[in-house]
Amino acid sequence: MAGQNASQEGKMARAWFSFMDWVDERFPLTETFEYHMSRYWAPKNFNFWYYFGVLSMVVLVIQLLTGIWLTMSYSPSSAFASVEYIMRDVEYGWLLRYLHSTGASAFFVVVYLHMFRGLMYGSYRKPRELLWLVGMAIFAVLIIEGFAGYLLPWGNMSFWAGQVIVSLVGAIPSIGPDLMEWVRGDFLMSDITLNRFFALHVIALPLVLVMLVFVHIVALHHVGSNNPDGIEIKKNKDANGIPLDGIPFHPYYTIGHDLPAIMIFLFIFFLVVFFAPEMGGYFIEKPNFEPANPLKTPEHIAPVWYYTPFYAMLRAATFPLFGIPAKFWGFVVMAGAIVLPAALPWLDRSPVKSIRYKGWISKVTLGLFVVTFFVLGYLGTIPPSPVATKIAQLGTAVYFAYFVLMPWYTRVEKTKPVPDRVTS
Ligand code: HEM
Repeated sequence: MAGQNASQEGKMARAWFSFMDWVDERFPLTETFEYHMSRYWAPKNFNFWYYFGVLSMVVLVIQLLTGIWLTMSYSPSSAFASVEYIMRDVEYGWLLRYLHSTGASAFFVVVYLHMFRGLMYGSYRKPRELLWLVGMAIFAVLIIEGFAGYLLPWGNMSFWAGQVIVSLVGAIPSIGPDLMEWVRGDFLMSDITLNRFFALHVIALPLVLVMLVFVHIVALHHVGSNNPDGIEIKKNKDANGIPLDGIPFHPYYTIGHDLPAIMIFLFIFFLVVFFAPEMGGYFIEKPNFEPANPLKTPEHIAPVWYYTPFYAMLRAATFPLFGIPAKFWGFVVMAGAIVLPAALPWLDRSPVKSIRYKGWISKVTLGLFVVTFFVLGYLGTIPPSPVATKIAQLGTAVYFAYFVLMPWYTRVEKTKPVPDRVTS
């Protein structure tokens, strides 16, 4: 009996291997799996901060799947009513919507933490400059994708937030008003505007996003992962050319590191979906439970929490310059704040990569940067006041100074010696 089973298993294994041979002759399946998974040597000292890349991918998949299913019932021609229909009549429509709206916030949580890890460990430094730039492109597309999605329920905050942001384009000198009309597709925010943002949100931008994530991973696996010590593990290889401080990404990181993290993340994610999907107005804002009304401006227009640091910087520009209105400068400051981190690979002149071995100035400035980001985030959620505006202006100055002064303070500070091999 045992012999019969063994020969049965042997036959199945042979059939499987000959099938794989057949596939591999026609498509590099095993080679690709080995290159990206089982023979991708990842540094053995990954820590907590290395969870957020894979978690970004998990959220991306959640957003794509729930987005496709929402689109089956959403219609831009009856936008607000169709969202109500999804919430009340479509089976499990409420779940799809809350998964998608919570997913949007979760996306920014994990991506901000993912980017912060890059700041800490100098993951943007040579040879990962392109990887970083692709990441920044992802971030920019994600911002536009979130904005386009926010318009779709066509609630009163969708309408007015859309109005505020689209009108920024109108502040560009000379070409602004025409450009704004072109973006809007109409003389005011209308069904035409909503339809084009729908097209961008459900097909154009997700397509770009998926392609960019693909390029991001290709770039990462070409240069190899950085690690909390900022040491290039490819510099120390054994006789077979395998990094001494590397372990196969699969199964060590897939099963031993990422899978438990995904489970914990999903547990927290579902707690929010089931028990606090509106998150007290931070994930879904109160005025968005009313349909869009061009005659009724919400008392306090504010974007969703993940844009508020940048919104605070937009509002911090309060005075005209060179005869150009403050609104335009606000737009410049906001756009500048979003794209400036792209210059990091060339701003950081430190001889070491990781914050572990940088000097005290880098540690203090990074800490200050994080605090400022939170303070600006808070200021962006509250109505403007003279004091809040002054603090926002100071915060904006600190935010920009972190980047602009980096070439100086990373060169003058005293760094610690970096070990040859990674520490655990
Ligand atoms: C949809 C969004 C994104 C996805 C799915 C994604 C995915 C990933 C994954 C799976 C990794 C490898 C695992 C890890 O190191 O955590 C990674 C690494 C990396 N990502 Fe992203 N990423 C995204 C956005 C970004 C953004 C916005 C940036 C920065 C601007 C960025 C910069 C980096 C860098 C520098 C690395 C290498 C880090 C290191 O080796 O220390 N990524 N990304």
